[in-house]
Amino acid sequence: MLQNLGVAITGSGSAAPAASLDNQALSYLVETSDEWITSRTGIRQRRLAAVSESLSAIATLAAQSAIAMAGITSADIDLIILATSTADDLFGSACEIQAQLKATKAVAFDLTAACSGFIFGLVTAAQYIRTGVYQNVLLIGADILSRWVNWEDRQSCVLFGDGAGAVVLQGNASDRLLGFELKSDGTQNQCLKLAYNAQPKQLVGGVNVGKGTYQPITMNGKEVYRFAVQLVPEVIDKALFRANLSVDQVDWLLLHQANQRILDAVAERLNIPTHKVISNLANYGNTSAASIPLALDEAVRQGQIKQGDVIAACGFGAGLTWGAAIFQWGR
Ligand code: ACO
Repeated sequence: MLQNLGVAITGSGSAAPAASLDNQALSYLVETSDEWITSRTGIRQRRLAAVSESLSAIATLAAQSAIAMAGITSADIDLIILATSTADDLFGSACEIQAQLKATKAVAFDLTAACSGFIFGLVTAAQYIRTGVYQNVLLIGADILSRWVNWEDRQSCVLFGDGAGAVVLQGNASDRLLGFELKSDGTQNQCLKLAYNAQPKQLVGGVNVGKGTYQPITMNGKEVYRFAVQLVPEVIDKALFRANLSVDQVDWLLLHQANQRILDAVAERLNIPTHKVISNLANYGNTSAASIPLALDEAVRQGQIKQGDVIAACGFGAGLTWGAAIFQWGR
């Protein structure tokens, strides 16, 4: 049988926890205001997972919608990649999702690249299709950062929310992934951390192990802002160059939904008009690896993004990591 070695993104889905917390309610928790949060970030509310809502459950819901839109079944999925930093289980949650979907044929693993996870996952998924190894790949971006937010830190707790988004990538005669560029810079790692912190525990004389837990998120907001505004336009330019496209051929700018000011500044630097910028962060806040597929899915279902539209997507975040992918929607 002839293999389809091109990549097409044929379905999307998303899901978010039921409870939402608006800025007004947050102002009872920390010293802040709706005015401050809205003007500095554009965020108005965020969805937060209750203790009964697992990451794998919301990821599975998003995945089911994406699979249905692609017109396949779970049994057709060859590979599941879960981009997340907040798995229910440190050993990974992708297999749990595989079980919930009854995707019995699928190989499943987690991938961690913080808020760049979806873009890194997209490129990883594409390699399996381009080499002819797999035909149907489910890529999920999902995070429950509320578990790790310091709810006493007003600078960071106002930013984050929980959610999941998913896409199905399929082998296709034409390759719709037109170009990409991925970057990492570990020298800037301290800007954004969710670090393990351990105390020594002596097992027997002379043998210690570290016992502890992950610490709440710490962030140097100004540094992250500077990094995003400077390096996101650069990496998108590079990906466009690889795609042999100019910026005016982009139909939609789809950035990691961190902060409206970052979205606006990047669009301005790239000379992309506001009506081409996808934004839903007012309703969800920063959902980390989920933010790009969640915004993509809403734009597709609202009829904004149409078959064949050129999308410049870019993730950026902890690591530091950042990356852009230029793709056309649909087959
Ligand atoms: N409410 C009210 N006041 C606040 C709040 C708050 N929630 N947070 C900070 N302030 C105060 C500060 O204490 C400071 O007061 P001071 O002048 O008396 O010292 C003042 O507001 C200004 O603080 P700045 O830190 O200078 O505010 P800035 O304009 O830089 O905005 C923000 C802060 C929104 C965090 C911004 O730096 C930012 O968006 N950075 C990017 C962060 C980000 O997107 N992180 C995630 C991306 S990566 C990933 O997704 C994991």
